[in-house]
Amino acid sequence: MQTVTVALGERSYTIHIGQGALDEVGQVLAQLPVTKKALVVTQPAIAAAYGDRVLQSLRAQGFAAETFEVLDAEEAKSLDWLERLYNRAVELRLDRRSPMIALGGGVVGDLAGFAAATYMRGVPFVQIPTTLLAQVDSSIGGKTAINHPRGKNLIGAFYQPRLVLIDVDTLQTLSERELRSGLAEVVKYGVIAKPDLFELLEGCTTEGLRQDGALLTRVIRDCCQIKADVVAVDEHETGIRAILNFGHTFGHAIEAAGGFSTYTHGEAVAIGMVWVTDLSQRMGLCQPELLARVKRLLQSLGLPIALKARIEGIRETILLDKKAVAGRLRFITVERLGQVSIRDDVPSQLVGEIIEEGLSAHSLSKEEVPIGAT
Ligand SMILES: NC(=O)c1ccc[n+]([C@@H]2O[C@H](COP(=O)([O-])OP(=O)(O)OC[C@H]3O[C@@H](n4cnc5c(N)ncnc54)[C@H](O)[C@@H]3O)[C@@H](O)[C@H]2O)c1
Ligand SMILES: [Zn+2]
Repeated sequence: MQTVTVALGERSYTIHIGQGALDEVGQVLAQLPVTKKALVVTQPAIAAAYGDRVLQSLRAQGFAAETFEVLDAEEAKSLDWLERLYNRAVELRLDRRSPMIALGGGVVGDLAGFAAATYMRGVPFVQIPTTLLAQVDSSIGGKTAINHPRGKNLIGAFYQPRLVLIDVDTLQTLSERELRSGLAEVVKYGVIAKPDLFELLEGCTTEGLRQDGALLTRVIRDCCQIKADVVAVDEHETGIRAILNFGHTFGHAIEAAGGFSTYTHGEAVAIGMVWVTDLSQRMGLCQPELLARVKRLLQSLGLPIALKARIEGIRETILLDKKAVAGRLRFITVERLGQVSIRDDVPSQLVGEIIEEGLSAHSLSKEEVPIGAT
C-alpha cells in the first residue's frame, strides 16, 4: 500500500493507495478517533459490486455499518437527496463522531462530503473513490458541493476528509468512457507538474494501464501527490491551486455548452487542454511541438482533441466565467511540460479566435471531407 499525506496541520490526512485496499477500510478507520457507527453512502451498482466487502471490513472491526444508496446521476447532488441523506443519518442516530463514508465517484463524494460537513456541524468524512476521476481529483482537497438548478456546485463547503482509501482494483469494473475521462485529469497532472508522468503515459494504452495494478497504483499515487502538495499550500484556492484548472476554462464552457451530456468532464477538459495549449503557443509561450505532443497523447488514450459538432454557447459561458474573476479572463497557460502560469492577461480576441476555429474544426472530420478530396 502506498501513502500520500495531505499536510494541513491538525486537519492533515493520509491517502492510502493500492490493490485490495477495500478490505482494509475497517482496520484503517479503527485507528482514527471515531465512534463505531458508520454510514456508507453509495450508488446501487457500486453497492452491488463492492458494498459487501466494505461492510464486512467495517463490521470485522466492530463497526455497526449501514449503507444509503443515492441516485446514479448528477441529480443526486441536490437538496432533495441531501435531505434524504440527513434523514437516514438521523434515523440511524449518527453522532458527532460517527464516520460518513463515500463509496463511489465524484457525485457520491461531493454529496456525502457536503452532508458530512453540515450534519451536526461536521462529522468525520471518509472517501473511498471508485472512479479514476475521483481517485486522482475529487476525493482529495476538500471541495464538497451540491448543485442548484441555476448552476453546478453552487452550494458547498471546503471540508477535508479524515481519510482517503483508494483501491485501484475497483477500476476494473469502470466503463471505458469513464476510465478515459479520468485519464484526461492524469494527463493534466503530467502537463502542469510531472513531465515523466506525461512520458510514461505516452508509452501506455488505456486498457494496458487498466490491466497493470502496480502501474495504476504508481500513476494514481503521483497524481495524488501533486494534488496534495498544491492543496497543502493553497487549500482555499486563493492562488496556486488554480493551476489544477489547466484546460478547465475552455473545458467547463464546452461541457456546459454540450448540456453536460454531449461530453463527459474529462472529454471536455481534453479538448480544453488542446485549446489552451494552442492559445499558449499563439502567445509565443510554448513551442508548436508541445501542442502536437499533447494532441498525440490525448488521441492515443482515446480522448477527443476537437469538438464532434458545432455547439452554441461556448463563448457566452467563457464570458460568464469572466465576470466571476473580477472582469478578467483567467487561463492557465503552459510554457513547457511541468511549467504553467496563471494568467489574467490573455487577449480576449485570441480567445475568440481559438473558440471560432474550434467550432469550425469539426467540419474537417472524416465524414464531411468532400468527395474527391484526399
Ligand atoms: N470535489 C471536487 O474537487 C471535484 C472535482 C472534480 C469533479 N467533481 C465532481 O465529480 C462529479 C463527477 O464524478 P465522476 O466522474 O466520478 O462521476 P460519477 O460519480 O457520476 O461516476 C460515473 C459513473 O461511474 C459509476 N461508477 C463509479 N465507480 C464505478 C466502478 N468502480 N465500477 C463501475 N462503475 C462505477 C457511477 O455509478 C456512475 O454511473 C461531478 O459532479 C463533478 O462536479 C468534484
Ligand atoms: Zn477536472
